[in-house]
Amino acid sequence: MSKRLVIIGSQWGDEGKGKITDYFACKSDMVVRYQGGNNAGHTVAFGGNKYSLRSIPSGIFNPETVNVMANGMVINPESVVNELSILRDKGVTDYQLYISDRAAMVMPWHSVLDGAYEAGKGNARIGTTKNGIGPCYSDKYSRIGLRMGDLLEPEYFAERLRAALEIKNRELRSLDLPEFDFETVYARYMELAEELGGMICDTSSLINKALKGDGKILFEGAQGMMLCIDHGTYPYVTSSTPSSASVPVGAGISPKWIDHVVGVAKSYCTRVGEGPFPTELFDDRAHDIRERGHEYGTVTGRPRRIGWFDAVVARYTGELAGIDHWALMLFDVLSGLDTVAICVGYECEGEVLQSPPSTISRLARCKPVLIEMEGWSEDLSEMKSYDELPAAAKAYVRKIEEVTGIPVGVISVGPDRSQTIVIDESLREFLNS
Ligand code: IMP
Repeated sequence: MSKRLVIIGSQWGDEGKGKITDYFACKSDMVVRYQGGNNAGHTVAFGGNKYSLRSIPSGIFNPETVNVMANGMVINPESVVNELSILRDKGVTDYQLYISDRAAMVMPWHSVLDGAYEAGKGNARIGTTKNGIGPCYSDKYSRIGLRMGDLLEPEYFAERLRAALEIKNRELRSLDLPEFDFETVYARYMELAEELGGMICDTSSLINKALKGDGKILFEGAQGMMLCIDHGTYPYVTSSTPSSASVPVGAGISPKWIDHVVGVAKSYCTRVGEGPFPTELFDDRAHDIRERGHEYGTVTGRPRRIGWFDAVVARYTGELAGIDHWALMLFDVLSGLDTVAICVGYECEGEVLQSPPSTISRLARCKPVLIEMEGWSEDLSEMKSYDELPAAAKAYVRKIEEVTGIPVGVISVGPDRSQTIVIDESLREFLNS
């Protein structure tokens, strides 16, 4: 049985990772977030309640599960305290949460600079969540960042804060933006340290200890592979690598531990923010899918752009991340369309491309090569097994497997935990053991 499971988004984020991660998280001994920060927005629904998670791992609802915010994340302590207080108000008080002492810490100037860089780009803006993710990762790699563990040593934190402010205030002045005052930031971060200090530790050794045991460990990705800083639609990407390939560095473990990768894919595609999107739909079908699938950003509320399932992207991300199975999400949303389509290639300047080009300028010139299939009208939301699906829906699932070369392991037919059809045997064993 696979015990070290990675769940990643395989498109442009918002694939429904929250639901599927929660589904596996409640059966995991440990859940680890390894990249990104509160730019993510997971919605989890169960027992008639809906919860939104931003940076906290999805295992938080199960008191038995150890949750880890690992070193590859960018952590905003203000946001963590806020998320925990919202959870507390909803009755979630019994949890285990650990935060890496080596994780980059989001500071108040990061979101200010995020907004300023976006404004400076005019029409070429990325459409970031303005949570300071890019500026925080930039500071990490420029080696002027602060880390969560610094909060545990007030004198060292003060030294690092002074050094960072020296550089950051100069930058803010040059952009005509207000500077940050040392005393104010220091005092607030010391208050945050009071709240979170007990959770901050060396999480890599915690995870490695668990790996040597017999427990089931889930590595929870955020965003989606096409937003990857290296392999995504650059520059319209986030500043980390959502792939399974970033688990070892982002969690502080060896790559040999990973034994199963689930790629979460919507049965169609969506995207928020700017950037080319070859299968994008602009007609009434986009509107219908958006409304039926509630396709509005969890973090920003922005309407999501809608397109057909893109097998060019799926093959590409499947290969990059070593995806073993798809979790095919929001499958019920496609009911009621006369026809459905899958993009199997990109036509570009007389060629048919089988994988995305490296520049967005070329990607913007790509036209999708679509195969059209018969739609279905049945409501799938109460269906409990693959066998119950109408023939046209089954044909659509099989076509996705055929054109991507990767089997579908899970089908989701609604937001609730109960609306999940698990087809793959090894994933079923993970859930039932
Ligand atoms: P950033 O991650 O806030 O820097 O935003 C960069 C790009 O990634 C923007 O297009 C965002 O809309 C997108 N993005 C970041 N996080 C998510 C997510 O969790 N889901 C979908 N898109 C995201």
